[in-house]
Amino acid sequence: MDWNSDIIKSLSWPAAISNIESKQKLAEQIAAKVRSGNIIGVGSGSTCYLALLAISQRIKNEQLNIMAISTSIEIALTCSSLGIPITSLYEHRPDWYFDGADEVDPNSHLIKGRGGAMFKEKLMMNASQQNFIIVDHSKLVDKLGSKFPIPVEVFPTALMNVEAKLKTLGANEILLRAAQGKDGPVISENGNLILDVKFDHIEKDLEIKIKSITGVIESGLFQNQLVEIIVG
Ligand code: 5RP
Repeated sequence: MDWNSDIIKSLSWPAAISNIESKQKLAEQIAAKVRSGNIIGVGSGSTCYLALLAISQRIKNEQLNIMAISTSIEIALTCSSLGIPITSLYEHRPDWYFDGADEVDPNSHLIKGRGGAMFKEKLMMNASQQNFIIVDHSKLVDKLGSKFPIPVEVFPTALMNVEAKLKTLGANEILLRAAQGKDGPVISENGNLILDVKFDHIEKDLEIKIKSITGVIESGLFQNQLVEIIVG
């Protein structure tokens, strides 16, 4: 039986999408990779949202049989509204994964997590056999940290411990991400807090150092991942 949910039927991306023409081209490139039978990991953010729209068109036109594994509630709801079947890492390993990014440096190292979904995004990237990062030109930087802080997801009662340890790693600004549409801080997909952290210099082992702090669930620094970057 169908829910016939008005909420699901009226879902759309909640804000204006920046660089939408480039993102739409990237969406078409991702949709062209889909083969019937694929299990596809889906990242979060507006570029992934547009890619899902393009994939759903191919599913309809060509009767493709695919399943998605989402990295956020936002993307799970989008799959539901588009009629794209969802599975999980319990049932399946993704054949491939696509995601956006906030910054990409010349070594294909990334900053992600503006949307707060970096824990499941990194998990999916690790689990998947092939990873595509789709970015418009505005995301390319010479040096990570040029435009975005590094998001760090923190177990709530570890907040002050993590703050103190981040300072010893050289953090020069640490902000607790505030919610919009709710009082107080952002609560992540996993019920945790998010710190936005700036460093003067991002060393090549900073991802590992941040991860080793007790209380850190994950960071949005992706320095050690196998990814193929597609620039639109
Ligand atoms: C979400 C992310 C997004 O991939 C990143 O913020 C890019 O978003 P957009 O495609 O909307 O520009 O990491 O956690």
